[in-house]
Amino acid sequence: MRWLLATAIALIAVGLIGLFVVNYFSFIPNQPGNVRVPLRGPGTRFPSGNFSSNGEQIFFTGASTRDTITATGGPFWFQMHGGGCANCHGPDGRGGTVVMMGRFTAPNITYKALTSGMHNGEKHKPYTDALIKRAITRGIDSEGEQLNQNMPRWHMSDQDLNDVIGYLKTLAP
Ligand code: HEC
Repeated sequence: MRWLLATAIALIAVGLIGLFVVNYFSFIPNQPGNVRVPLRGPGTRFPSGNFSSNGEQIFFTGASTRDTITATGGPFWFQMHGGGCANCHGPDGRGGTVVMMGRFTAPNITYKALTSGMHNGEKHKPYTDALIKRAITRGIDSEGEQLNQNMPRWHMSDQDLNDVIGYLKTLAP
C-alpha cells in the first residue's frame, strides 16, 4: 500500500510542476487584436468593454490593436501574466503603492505631471515626448538615470508609443 501512496504523491507533484510549466510558457506576447483581461490590482477599476482608442487599450491591457507588444523586466507577476500601465501606475495614471507579491511605488505618469518639472514632490528635468519614449522602452528617466526593474522595458512601435502618450495627455494631473 505504501507504494500506492508514494505513486499518488509523485503524480500530484508532477501535476503541480506541469501546471507551473504550462503557466510559465503561456505568457505569449500580445497578438494584434487579442485583448487580454486586465489584471485587477486592489482598489483599481477598469473601464469595461471596448476601449475608445488604441492608446487607452495599451494603457489598460498592454496589448495594441496594431502590433505585437512585448516587455522585459518588471516584477514576477508581470512577467507571468502581463498587464498594462494601469496595473502599476493606476487607472488614473497618478501612481501609488502596488501591492502584489511584494510592494513598490509607481510614480505619477500623467502627461502634465511628467512635463511639469515638478514630479512626485521632487524637482525633475521636464519630460519631452522623446524622453517619455526613452523611459518606456529603455527605462531611463528624464535626468538620464536608470529606472528600477519594477518598470518593465517595453518593445512597441513608434505609433503605439505615440498612441499611449496621447492617452497620457488626456489624464488629469
Ligand atoms: C509592473 C509595473 C509597471 C508597469 C506595468 C508599468 N510601469 Fe512605468 N514605472 C514603474 C515603476 C516602479 C517606475 C519607477 C521606477 C523607479 O523609480 O526607478 C516606473 C516609471 C515610469 C516612468 C518614469 C516616471 C518618472 O518618474 O521618471 C514612465 C514615463 C513610465 N513608468 C511609463 C509607463 C508606461 C507608459 C507604461 C505602460 C506602457 C508603464 N510605465 C508600465 C512600474 C510600471
